[in-house]
Amino acid sequence: MMELPRIIQGGMGVGISGWQLARAVSTTGQLGVVSGICLDELMVRRLQMGDPEGHIRRALDHFPIKEMARNILDKFFKERGKGADEPFMPAGNMVGEINAERENLIVAGSFTEIFLAKEGHKGVIGVNLLEKIQTDCLSTLYGCMLAGVDYVTVGAGIPKEIPGILDSLSKNIVTKMRLAVTNAISTDDFRLTFDPSRFMQSLPLKRPKFLAIIASNVLATTLAKKSNGKVDGFIIEAPVAGGHNAPPRGAMQLNEQGEPIYGAKDEVDLEKIKELGIPFWLAGAYSLRGKVKEAIAKGAAGVQAGTPFFMCKESGLTDELRNQILASDRRVVTEPKASPTGFPFKVVQAAGTLSEDSVYKARPRVCNFGYLRERYRKDNGTMGFRCAAEPVAAYVAKGGTPELAEGCKCLCNGLIVAIGLGSVYKNGYREPAILTAGDVLSEIDYLRSDLTAKEVVDYLLE
Ligand SMILES: Cc1cc2nc3c(=O)[nH]c(=O)nc-3n(C[C@H](O)[C@H](O)[C@H](O)COP(=O)(O)O)c2cc1C
Repeated sequence: MMELPRIIQGGMGVGISGWQLARAVSTTGQLGVVSGICLDELMVRRLQMGDPEGHIRRALDHFPIKEMARNILDKFFKERGKGADEPFMPAGNMVGEINAERENLIVAGSFTEIFLAKEGHKGVIGVNLLEKIQTDCLSTLYGCMLAGVDYVTVGAGIPKEIPGILDSLSKNIVTKMRLAVTNAISTDDFRLTFDPSRFMQSLPLKRPKFLAIIASNVLATTLAKKSNGKVDGFIIEAPVAGGHNAPPRGAMQLNEQGEPIYGAKDEVDLEKIKELGIPFWLAGAYSLRGKVKEAIAKGAAGVQAGTPFFMCKESGLTDELRNQILASDRRVVTEPKASPTGFPFKVVQAAGTLSEDSVYKARPRVCNFGYLRERYRKDNGTMGFRCAAEPVAAYVAKGGTPELAEGCKCLCNGLIVAIGLGSVYKNGYREPAILTAGDVLSEIDYLRSDLTAKEVVDYLLE
């Protein structure tokens, strides 16, 4: 039986926890987690950058459907790399049903990331998905499973159906998932279907372990009792953690800085979690001295950490931004309206990024990735898509409100800039970055520009 990891390096999108970071953590014997967000887009952008070290091409060489891999290379690979001012050819926009070509890209991109993370060692690798991003969920999971992913972690929602989906995909059978659609008449109105037969696997695939990322006892109990398959563990994330946070319970109240106020009602009762008999890890500022021991004393199997790994040299973050953060006061603000998901989102305050009002206001609103779009039922019964960060008039015409649009930031574009794969447009405009990290960013005293993932693991296990 696989031993449980003590340290989980949290999934960090977009591409912050790429295969290099997850691999570095995994080779220390702990769990390295790749972010499963927009892996097709990352693959095609890397190919257009010339894939200088040949990693993507090497992984695609191992992709089981040779013709698919060849078509991807023919379309996206640029031997000398695209020019710095030349726009990327995108994988596509996440609207509606994804067509077969897009599905191939998602499966291949996911396979690639996990293949590289697992290459040449026996450590375990996970993939992290956000329950809110459903459109590419089945194809991403399948691509990861084709490459032998060991764990799947899912947060930002109620991932009740994921365990059953993993069971089904592992048997290579047609798999369906209910889509969350605002104003849908019933939860069965809209479904996503994935047919693995196009990927020609007959042997069963390994069913990865499923860890749900949660922030409340109610959600833990619901998942333990009402999921359609086995939940292998919980990652219990406090609101100080980097990335998205669960909103506070009850009416949202803000402090003087405009951040959500959390209180006793938001604390998870670990005694009740223990009664469920499922292993759990604690997350959110567990990277400070003594915190791993503290978590274990509370009955946890270990901790999940993100922020120190985000600052490691193996993370996808560009050296330039890492050095900028190190030289700054490392202030992090929890913005209640920044994310199109509606969840509070932690934003690192950094010059030249979307944390600055002037940068935010100067950015022309455009929605060209579409991962965080909200699905809604149109009057004619079909499914529509809207994003609170898209142009306001378009959002309002689709039933959104100006209040939700105000202050909402395009995380899809901003996050991909942070890993050096941001969009540049024909008119020369470059998308600005957005950075996220946990509240603990200013308190971790061991951050350096050449910090390695192994050093973080060693520190945490000290
Ligand atoms: C840069 C960054 C990006 C993150 N992105 C995601 C994500 O895409 N999905 C997710 O479930 N959690 C995400 N997180 C949360 C981490 O996986 C982890 O749970 C959290 O960082 C733990 O708390 P800490 O930040 O105090 O270490 C992110 C965290 C950081 C710092």
